[in-house]
This record gives sequence, structure tokens and C-alpha cells, in this order.
Amino acid sequence: MLQEKIQQYSEEIAQFAAKSHKDTEAFRLRFLVAKGIVRNLFDEFKSVSPEEKRTLGKALNELKQAAEEKYKTLQEQYPPTAQRSTQETTDLTLPGEGFIFGSRHPLSLVRKEIVEIFKKLGFTVADGPEIEDDWHNFTALNFPPEHPARDMQDTFFIKKQDGNDIALRTHTSSVQVRMMESGKPPFRAIMPGRVYRNEAISARAHCFFHQVEGLYVDENVSFADLKQTLYYFVQELFGEGTKVRFRPSYFPFTEPSAEMDISCTICKGHGCNMCKRTGWVEILGCGMVDPNVLENCGIDSGRYSGFAFGMGIERITNLKYEIKDLRLFSENDVRFLSQFESELI
Ligand code: DAH
Repeated sequence: MLQEKIQQYSEEIAQFAAKSHKDTEAFRLRFLVAKGIVRNLFDEFKSVSPEEKRTLGKALNELKQAAEEKYKTLQEQYPPTAQRSTQETTDLTLPGEGFIFGSRHPLSLVRKEIVEIFKKLGFTVADGPEIEDDWHNFTALNFPPEHPARDMQDTFFIKKQDGNDIALRTHTSSVQVRMMESGKPPFRAIMPGRVYRNEAISARAHCFFHQVEGLYVDENVSFADLKQTLYYFVQELFGEGTKVRFRPSYFPFTEPSAEMDISCTICKGHGCNMCKRTGWVEILGCGMVDPNVLENCGIDSGRYSGFAFGMGIERITNLKYEIKDLRLFSENDVRFLSQFESELI
């Protein structure tokens, strides 16, 4: 009985052919595990007669050896896949691949710088909606109805069926109104944000851009405070020694009003394309908040006075980085954007 089995399995082992690691594993499970054939034959061997033991013992040992050797050769032919891939494809000594970092947008960098400077002077940061009503964008800011000053800013109007038209804000001055309406003086805040105007897109104009509005309302605020604040701001942003000059101007919401120029940072005042050979570039509008505006927002203009200013972030960024075409800011060209990678985060 046992002899026949040994004979039969020896043949099977000799003839066993594997095509894959899976077959090799099947061989092991059939012959070599604790409940496998070889082990079972050894168990049977225990109960044969002593005479048989002598001959069968040798045959059985040979069978066991044959099975183990066969398994070894099969394993060499078909090693497990995991082991194979580690050996063939992963070289842990190779240098790693570097990460590609994004960068901040130049307008964000400059807005952050502006905010940081005013924070040092105790200004807080506020914002308001980009979709505005006529009151906050115009009327409360002392633009009378049908007044030509409304045409200074080409507005995107949205016609509503109920007749109350809304608009995309044309300037961040609307946030001043919201702030004064909803709080009590003193106010000392800057308000950065995006604004919209119905303009044809070119190197020098765009249908949307960014501004930072400033507002300071308290008792006894004077034009001297306005000048000193803006002078400090310019020295911090453009470097000490940058000159400023104020030219009289007109805005409906300030009286008196001015525009502020700085000495051209590119040619240092000698005259270049950026300053149209004048040595000066305009960077903001400003003035003392018109008492009508204070009253429109429920603030006693007999007791309080204030100053306000508004500047374009694009204009300042153009000056700082000598950018000549506004369209670059919104085209998302990585060749442009990646130039700001090393700038402060
Ligand atoms: N809102 C003005 C504009 O968009 C800028 C401006 C001028 C803002 C004078 C002010 C200001 O607060 O006092 O052109």
C-alpha cells in the first residue's frame, strides 16, 4: 500500500511542471505543508512492519528530498512578484524628486505689504460686497442723482425687475459707507478689494482691478494727519527719501480733495516712460471726508471729522515690479507668475 503510494507520488513530483509562482505555491501546499502528502506518508509509515520499514524508510526519505529539491528549483524559476519588483525597479539610493512650489500673485504680495504698513499705524482691515446698490456706491458718497461725476466711473449696472438696479462696485469707497453706517466713531481702517468698471481691456485699462480704501474718522482729525499718514506709508513701501506731493483735485465724497504723486521710483525723478518724463507718478486720491457723507452715515459732522484715501493696487505693483501691461495680472501665465516665487510669503 504505502510502497505504491510512494511510487506514484515520486512520479508525480518528477513530472510536475509549473508555469508561474502560483503553480509553485500549489506544489508546496500539496506536498510540503503540515497536512501535506509527505507528512501524511510519514504518519502512515509509523504503522508498517519492521521489515518493511527498512526498505520503505529509504524510499520515503528520497521522496521527501525529491519534493524539497523540486520546490527549491520551482521557487528559483518563479519567485514571488513582490520580491521580484523590489529587486528590479526600486533603487533606494537614487536622489528624490524636488517639489514644485506655487507662488503668491504679485497683487496679493503688494496688498499684503500695504496692509502690514497700515496695521503698524493701528488701522484694522475691513471688507464689503462686490455687488452694491446705488446708495453705497454713489448716493451716500455725495454723488447727486444725474450728477456728471457718476460718469467718471463707467459702471456695470444689473437691471432688476423690481426697478431697484444693482451694480458691481466701481470703487472700494462703498465699504467706507458700510463701515460708518454700522458702527460708531472712531474709525481707523483700510479696505482692500476688487472693483469693476466698464472699460475696454488694454495694457493700461481693465474691466476689473483692485483698490485699497482708507478711512480715519475721529474728533479733531485734520489734513495734517492725512499728509503725515500717507507720507509714512510711502516711505515704508517705496523706501526712505521717496518724495510726495499733493495736487488739488475733486471727488464728490471729500472736501478738500487731492491726488498724491510720488517721485518716480524707476528713474528717481529724472524722467522715464513710466512717469511720462515728468519725474512724478500719481498713486492715490484722498481728502477730508465731506460732512455730507458723515451725515448720510449718521455721524455728527459737527463733532467728528476724518480723512479718506483710495489707491489702485495694480498701479503700485506696476511701479514696484516695473510691469507695463495690466493684462498680465489676469492671464495666469506661469512664466509671469513664477517670477514672484522668491518673494515674501
Ligand atoms: N474712489 C476713488 C476712485 O476710485 C478713489 C478715492 C479718492 C478714494 C479719494 C477716496 C478718496 O477715499 O478720498 O477713483
